[in-house]
Formats: sequence, structure tokens, C-alpha cells
Amino acid sequence: MRAPSGALEVRSASTHNLRDVDVDIPLGVLVVVTGVAGSGKSSLIHGSVAGGEGVVTVDQGAIKGSRRSNPATYTGMLEPIRKAFAKANGVKPALFSANSEGACPACNGAGVLYSDLAMMAGVATVCEECEGKRFQAEVLEHTFGGKDIDQVLNLSVAEAEAFFAPGDASVPAAHKVLTHLADVGLGYLKVGQPLTTLSGGERQRLKLATHMAEKGGVYVLDEPTTGLHLADVENLLGLLDRLVDSGKSVIVIEHHQAVMAHADWIIDLGPGAGHEGGTVVFEGTPADLIAGRGTLTGEHLAAYVGG
Ligand SMILES: Nc1ncnc2c1ncn2[C@@H]1O[C@H](COP(=O)(O)OP(=O)(O)OP(=O)(O)O)[C@@H](O)[C@H]1O
Ligand SMILES: [Mg+2]
Ligand SMILES: [Zn+2]
Repeated sequence: MRAPSGALEVRSASTHNLRDVDVDIPLGVLVVVTGVAGSGKSSLIHGSVAGGEGVVTVDQGAIKGSRRSNPATYTGMLEPIRKAFAKANGVKPALFSANSEGACPACNGAGVLYSDLAMMAGVATVCEECEGKRFQAEVLEHTFGGKDIDQVLNLSVAEAEAFFAPGDASVPAAHKVLTHLADVGLGYLKVGQPLTTLSGGERQRLKLATHMAEKGGVYVLDEPTTGLHLADVENLLGLLDRLVDSGKSVIVIEHHQAVMAHADWIIDLGPGAGHEGGTVVFEGTPADLIAGRGTLTGEHLAAYVGG
């Protein structure tokens, strides 16, 4: 186990079902909070840790933004990209925004049109003027590094990472964000993919990537493996390790046994749900949890690593 750099002392936590919980959460390591559904994991972490100074919380909740928002707008990397296009072409950055001056006049940059009838049926038709590209035709005549802005928005994160890397079309600020997105396993997403189409797990990793540039010292993730394939879980564990190795504290609420087995420290809540839960039934290393087998989580983890 990695050595903790200190501890976050939680005292008399009583949010929801918690029964005056006292617990020291080690810092500078990977801590996994476990326990049956309803045992009080979220209550403990969101009630006593999240919201604190320097604490970055990454949940799976909706991210604010319309269907015009995408990874490029959400992360802020579209700004430096627009500036690069503007500079290369001697025009204003606002032209390269489909929400502003560069918008297709027929659809106002939506790329789709709703007739009254179609609206009632909840369907939209692709704008014929811009063919769904959302930009005025003249805007697409301006290129940077050989691509127009629509082509850039259609690149995958991995492709864009290569495109904006030092070289002909270097945009360092965008490249850095793209590196973070690739790090969280989102290399396959399109830079301009509407946020409304992202899965819960993708949304959470997008948030995580956005927060990776921040100075925050403590990262809280509530069930980051939701919706992930086993291979993706491995990638996520690698990412959590890199965060810890870069000096961050990572606290993960998880049911996934691969994540528990990987933890430096486990805090197990229980023994049951609701009134039957709300206490810390184990705190220690995964090895100790397995050796003791005193809790339901210990039993299952033992079966998992033994099997
Ligand atoms: N806002 C609330 N008001 C009252 N009780 C709540 C509230 N939120 C949660 N609880 C109760 O507190 C207990 C612990 O809930 P909590 O969300 O902390 O569980 P959890 O361990 O995170 O479970 P899960 O694994 O399902 O996310 C549950 O019995 C739940 O019904
Ligand atoms: Mg919860
Ligand atoms: Zn249009």
C-alpha cells in the first residue's frame, strides 16, 4: 500500500442514516468506500467530504448545457481553436461559433429545423442550407492546418490530439485538454458530439478530464465504473493511480470488486441498509478485509480474489 500523507478527520457524521460516524480518511492514497446499497456511502462522502475546500466531486449527474454543447465547448478548448482559426485567416473568432456570428442563417446554427408538425412528433429535419453543419458556407471556406471548423468538430478526440499537437496546426491549450480526455478513455468521442448523447459514464469521465487541470487536492468519485466494461475498468484504475501518483487524494465510492482489490484503504459501511446500516464495519487494507472476512464485503472480496 502507498503511504498516506495525512488524514481527513470526519467526526460525528450523522447525515441521513449515519450513526455518529467517526472515521479518518487517509489522504494521498486511493480510498474505496464500500457497503451494501443504502448503507450510507453517499451520505458519508457527500455529507462530510464533498464541498470542502480543494475537494473536486465528480458525479454522474447531468451536465448543464444544451444540445448545442459538446466536449469542445464544455471543456473550453473551442476558444483557443477559434482563435487559431481567426488568426490564420485574419477574421474574427466569433465567426467560428455556430452559436454566434458564424451560424447558418436558415437554422440559426442548430443544424436542424422543426416544423410545427414535426415538433409535435418530436422529430427534426436536417437543415438543407448547411446540411446540418450549422455554419454559414463562407465560414467553412476558412481552414486551419488544412481543415475547416466542421471537419475539426468531426474529429475524434484521439485524431484531434494528433492534429493539434506541436507541428503545423499546433494549439497547445487545446492539445492539453485533448490529452486529458484521451487519458480518461474518451479518445473515441467526437470533439463536437452533442453532450445530450453522452452516456452516464462518459459524462462522468468528461467531468473528470475537465477537473484534471484544477489544483484541487482531493477527488471524490461516486461509482465511476457504472456502465464500464471490464477493460475500461482497468483503464480507469490506471487513471486513478496516475492521479494518486501525481500527489492527489482519491476517494471512490464503489461496488466493483476490481476497484476494491486495487484500493490502498477500504472503508466499509453497514452492516445493512437504512436503519440497519450507518456504521463503519471495517477500515483497513483490502488484504486485511479479506483476511478478517468479518463483513459481507470481505466475504465477497475474498471470493473474488480467490476465484
Ligand atoms: N435525502 C434523504 N432523506 C432521507 N433519507 C435519505 C436521504 N438520502 C438518503 N437517505 C437514506 O439514507 C440511507 C443511506 O443512503 P445513501 O445514499 O448514503 O446510501 P449508499 O450507501 O450510497 O447506497 P447506494 O449504494 O445505493 O448508492 C438510505 O437508507 C437512504 O434511504
Ligand atoms: Mg450512493
Ligand atoms: Zn442550417
